[in-house]
Amino acid sequence: MSSTTDATTNQKALWDHALDIMPGGVSHPNRRKAGDAIYINRAEGSRMWDVEGNEYIDYSMGSASLLLGHAHPDVVKAIIEQAPLGTYTASCHPLEVEWAELVKELVPSAEQVRFVGTGSEATALAARVARAYTGKTKIIRFQGHYNGWSDVTITGSEFPYDEAPGAGVVPGAAEAIVVLPTDPERVEETLKTNDDIAGIMVEASGANWGSIPMPENFLQNLRDLADKYEVVLIFDEVITGFRWSPGGVQGLTGIVPDLSSMAKIVTGGNPGGALGGKSEIMEVLNPRTTTHADRKVVHKGTFNAAPIVAAPAVATLKIVKTGEPHKHANAMAEKMREGIRTILEEHQVAGAAYGESSTYQIHFGKTPSRDSVEGLSPEELRGVPSSTVLGFQQALLDRGVNNMSHFGGMLSSAHTDEDVEQTLKAIEGAIEELMAEGSIGRA
Ligand SMILES: Cc1ncc(COP(=O)(O)O)c(C=O)c1O
Repeated sequence: MSSTTDATTNQKALWDHALDIMPGGVSHPNRRKAGDAIYINRAEGSRMWDVEGNEYIDYSMGSASLLLGHAHPDVVKAIIEQAPLGTYTASCHPLEVEWAELVKELVPSAEQVRFVGTGSEATALAARVARAYTGKTKIIRFQGHYNGWSDVTITGSEFPYDEAPGAGVVPGAAEAIVVLPTDPERVEETLKTNDDIAGIMVEASGANWGSIPMPENFLQNLRDLADKYEVVLIFDEVITGFRWSPGGVQGLTGIVPDLSSMAKIVTGGNPGGALGGKSEIMEVLNPRTTTHADRKVVHKGTFNAAPIVAAPAVATLKIVKTGEPHKHANAMAEKMREGIRTILEEHQVAGAAYGESSTYQIHFGKTPSRDSVEGLSPEELRGVPSSTVLGFQQALLDRGVNNMSHFGGMLSSAHTDEDVEQTLKAIEGAIEELMAEGSIGRA
């Protein structure tokens, strides 16, 4: 890098330097773009700005962690007021009790709450707690569902589903996971024939925040099967929690799991997460009895419930509790989905726009209808080369729109009609570009 100015305002220089000192230049694989990285140094509401002053409408929303948009004034105020009081004291503190109370009030299954460091910790802990409580080993998970990157949850998240997606996973870890399609009959057959199942873990939206939807009634089927075979039902609500409704998918559907993993919105978009669950099960985390006693789980974590996270978390959940952010964000997402359908129709592109809550998903390829991908297999839904995904993302970035890691995005209470209209123009331009180069085809 040639100068201090370059170091902070020249994205190409930052990227070249990052490629030298960070593997692949990134801190998370999904931040890889088709072109050079963009370096964001400011975000507010629905918008972000890179170091060269380019503006983007953001639909990643902190990887789905920001239902209220970037830098919401109440959230910022909470951080500013807490910082001089101490960011982290490794002690019990009043805010963690207020935070746990809010989670309990909003999330039906959360009779008790244990705070953790990330969503991956929340799901790994859920698996450990389920094993400790039942005295059994295996967790049923579903093809394509992402439940965090730990050795005990990673197998099954990517095709081929019965292998760990990548090197370095502890040999044998996959044996503690049974990966199934989202078929209740297959789940029952497994529970009937395998007496070592501790629990069932499911992304409560369907794989990857609903990009691969589940069959109707699937969550209720799982609840019934978990009761019948006395296994622990775990909803992974890391993305859906506090977004699908103030009480997540379980708050919306009334189908209550035994344990729920949470992160992202539960912390107000700050580092951390939580496991909530029925008191009887959560009791295995009670450290007052010896940790070596039968069924007691050892769980630690330096930054669990750090005050600098608890403060903005409480500020966020107080707003989430009103249900108002959801009404607005859901309406904006519906407008987006409708707008994309119109574009697909007008350009005669094979595809569909779908999604629940405040999300939108786009599928390029043959579909039963413009608003549904029902009946398509995970392979058909994921059947687009990653170069097309990256190409679409890049075409949107070039037009001032930052979406999530595949063909979709998250909205917030900060997104406006104007944002959606501007984004639809960008999506139309990106689709035209991809059609022109032959990456996506006509209906
Ligand atoms: C459904 C789901 N579970 C778990 C995780 C892991 O959370 P984290 O990235 O905080 O470890 C994610 C992350 O995106 C997720 O989407």
